[in-house]
Amino acid sequence: MSLPANVSNRRQLDEAPLLVAARGGTPAHTPVWFMRQAGRSLPEYRRTREGVPMLRACLTPDLVSEITMQPVRRHGVDAAILFSDIVLPLYASGVELDIVAGTGPVVNRPVRGAADVAALPALRAEQVEGVAEAVRTLVAELGATPLIGFAGAPFTLASYLVEGGPSRNHERTKALMHSEPETWHALLGKLAETTLEFLRVQIDAGVDAVQLFDSWAGALSPHDYAVYVQPHTNRILRGVAEHSGEEVPRIHFGVGTGELLTAMRDSGASVVGVDWRVPLDRAVNRLDPQQHRPPVVQGNLDPAVLFAGWDAVRSETERVLAEGRSAGGHIFNLGHGVLPDTDPDVLTRIVELVHSSSAGRR
Ligand code: CP3
Repeated sequence: MSLPANVSNRRQLDEAPLLVAARGGTPAHTPVWFMRQAGRSLPEYRRTREGVPMLRACLTPDLVSEITMQPVRRHGVDAAILFSDIVLPLYASGVELDIVAGTGPVVNRPVRGAADVAALPALRAEQVEGVAEAVRTLVAELGATPLIGFAGAPFTLASYLVEGGPSRNHERTKALMHSEPETWHALLGKLAETTLEFLRVQIDAGVDAVQLFDSWAGALSPHDYAVYVQPHTNRILRGVAEHSGEEVPRIHFGVGTGELLTAMRDSGASVVGVDWRVPLDRAVNRLDPQQHRPPVVQGNLDPAVLFAGWDAVRSETERVLAEGRSAGGHIFNLGHGVLPDTDPDVLTRIVELVHSSSAGRR
């Protein structure tokens, strides 16, 4: 049965622990999922991807839904995250780029000045129709498990575009920001529009929550974040809220963002992702020093701890759960993505442990 275009495809999942926690309620157990759960730590992923370039896989609905389902079937996580990539909307809109295994996104002609920014295309919804189709299939297949959609935030996308690839110091990006602020704001404004359009497509197709990744925002001082980034991130998160009301939680995450947590929340996030450098109880304190309304946080087990043997994993998982208890809601996750060589069985055991030690507690 096809739905009229103006009717939401979104399921009512009022009991799903992820959504209950994201809205500040009391879930049956602490929900857990893992950033980068769909990917190279799984042998079934490597088999499915064999011979298919990453970005082609992201636009092939059957592959997207299969790869998105794999960690849900294997680990019993409380959410699926759409298999895609933060640079996909740029690629789909016509930017010449590739994802190189072991390196990351590489851009053919980096964006270095006003003319490059003016030439940057905007994303049109039909260019990511394959993603929308995969989301529609997935929400039917997932049953009661929520699907998280996502996009990259303007600063992180701009860093790839300006540097031409992954960067340790983001020096060209920061040079553009400080030497040509008008060009910078034009670039981030365009990236915000493309990102918002990509998220609207996913929401219209039925995702239950969204995560905006600003992975490299932690490279910025609070001043530069506030002046050069926050207005654009705010445009996206406000746009999502205007599009879907409070029904679709907005998770916002970056690495090394301990000094930016309040600014990232104030950009319009309803859930703040925290990496492993800031204990969750300290993050809660930073976000709500007067204890008016405890925030909802996501995180933050160090992904490298997963290599340290089960005793260490268990005690660190329990520490994170204990530190998360002061939050208004806690979504358990790693402090950044699953590392490629992680033993997938450790992920499954973490899910079991988070569920068993939190059931009936909150
Ligand atoms: O979380 C999930 O499982 C969903 C899928 C997902 C991917 N990328 C798949 C992917 C998500 C959420 C992303 C987001 C992403 N992509 C981010 C933000 C999150 C973060 O890690 O900070 C960033 C910065 C990127 C850019 C990117 N894409 C990098 C750095 C890499 C790794 C390059 C490498 O090979 O080391 C990619 C490629 C990528 N994205 C892979 C996957 C599964 C690996 C590609 C492959 O399997 O060949």
